[in-house]
Amino acid sequence: MSRVLVTRQLPAGGLDPLVEAGHEVVQREGDEPYTAEELVALAPEVDAIVCILTDRIDVAVLQAGAPRLQVVANVAVGYDNIDVATASQMGIAVCNTPGVLDETTADLAFLLILAACRRATDAEADLRAGRWTGFHIGDFLGVDVHGATLGIVGYGRIGRAVARRGAGFGMEVLHHTRTDTGIGGWVADLDDLLRRSDVVSLHVPLHDETRGLIGARRLALMKPSAVLVNTARGPVIDEEALAIALEEGTIFAAGIDVYEREPAVHPRLLAAPHAVLLPHIGSATEATRRRMAHLASDGAVAVLRGDRPPNLVSG
Ligand code: GLV
Repeated sequence: MSRVLVTRQLPAGGLDPLVEAGHEVVQREGDEPYTAEELVALAPEVDAIVCILTDRIDVAVLQAGAPRLQVVANVAVGYDNIDVATASQMGIAVCNTPGVLDETTADLAFLLILAACRRATDAEADLRAGRWTGFHIGDFLGVDVHGATLGIVGYGRIGRAVARRGAGFGMEVLHHTRTDTGIGGWVADLDDLLRRSDVVSLHVPLHDETRGLIGARRLALMKPSAVLVNTARGPVIDEEALAIALEEGTIFAAGIDVYEREPAVHPRLLAAPHAVLLPHIGSATEATRRRMAHLASDGAVAVLRGDRPPNLVSG
């Protein structure tokens, strides 16, 4: 029997694989996140950590955990909160949750595409504030989704799921990845994709090359009627540059679910026109969050058993 630290309360059933394998789950009663110091203090006493994307599993936690700690399983598909390079060097496995949240996250990306193009949240806020005086032919004019060109940046599972939705909405779909996908619609040059797209949706993981990928220079390449959507990771966009682009009408609108310094949102972005802003809820359905917890737990159980799980990132 191994000891597994589970950093937060997870959906019912999500920890079943750990319990069924007979492992001891170390978890506190409430849902208060562990501080960095608490994680360092707990790491040496456990064989595995099941964590979420707001837990920073850095070199201090990994070094504190060695040599007992065998695996860190992130209940998220993105794993930029974990120092994977250090974990690999130390022989600590890292797992994530690929495949189980693609459709749910793509749904949310599409919600943002629709809401931003059609100014849904501005219009609703107006109505709720009692400012609606009746139908006006010129109010809340947006841009059409059908017939628009959708440019997808990053063409992994989630990017492809958004592409399918785009095709269903009668959009022309382009995608950019660094290496040719061999699939129709591939655009070699990101700048070219930005110039040609009416809607740009970001689906790249966060790493050194994608941090700040969309900044002032690239925003300026987009059409003044364009809409930018981000359900990937906040630091892929320079948030202040985006706020300025919205203020100045460099682009038409944005739909954002992730932020550079969560939970803080740049005050200028909060005040910017035509911004639909959600609080990192891309995978937030009961069924998907349960599947994510289950898959992360499965990964931890497999590593503890000495197996190589399919959701192994490294190790
Ligand atoms: C959510 O952002 C995830 O990476 O799963």
